Amino acid sequence: MPRIPIAAGNWKMNKTSQEASAYAEAFLPQVKDFKKEIEIIICPPFTALATLASYFRNSPIKLGAQNMHWEEKGAFTGEVSAPMIKEWGCQYVILGHSERRHIFRETSEEVGKKVKKALEWGINPILCVGETLEEREKGETEKIVEEQLLLGLSDIPDAKASSIVIAYEPVWAIGTGKAATSEDARGVISFIREKLSSRFNVEISGDIRILYGGSVSPENVLDFLREDEIDGTLVGGASLDPLKMIKIAEETLRAY
Ligand code: PGA
Repeated sequence: MPRIPIAAGNWKMNKTSQEASAYAEAFLPQVKDFKKEIEIIICPPFTALATLASYFRNSPIKLGAQNMHWEEKGAFTGEVSAPMIKEWGCQYVILGHSERRHIFRETSEEVGKKVKKALEWGINPILCVGETLEEREKGETEKIVEEQLLLGLSDIPDAKASSIVIAYEPVWAIGTGKAATSEDARGVISFIREKLSSRFNVEISGDIRILYGGSVSPENVLDFLREDEIDGTLVGGASLDPLKMIKIAEETLRAY
């Protein structure tokens, strides 16, 4: 089966729920007729999930969270769990984003526990992997990506693996306006696909979608979408502007 392409927006720590309503009002009319051939996913802060869930109900837009804890409940002040985001209508959750790994010191083992828990709750994880500039310059890109990938997927049975999405996001390309070239992204993404096929059976690993993220914009998105190996994009800064996100979704629909 062909993999359904994804246009996902990661708002990071931006927009109150009131601002999210204004966004939904601008965004929804433009994308409400999009068919099933593409998945559009918006990942706002936790505080805007409930608001967006009510706008996106009965629309083709899916909702994702930006993080979650690996336990379901307990004494974890400030954390939010899989059943909580599920109740808010999340079908996706971004896990192991580089800002979580680098600013909040999340380890790949912790990310792996989160991936497992998300799948237990029927939430599709978007597992982010990517090297820093220093690691790239030392020629360690594949080593780092492989380590993050395998630890992130360490306890996942084949039966659940096909709903996982991987996002290759080189850290040096995030929020810098300096996207990777599509050739570079394709190279690492092909490497990820190869690792997935030795981790899971070939059929299942062939269902896993792999996205590129890092300074994606309406102007450069097509370069990535033209690569057969790239199944869509994870968009940060540009996703904050509904018009830009609409354009990215349209280009994604057109490209596949
Ligand atoms: P960016 O962020 O598009 O602003 O570079 C991407 C991301 O962090 O997911």
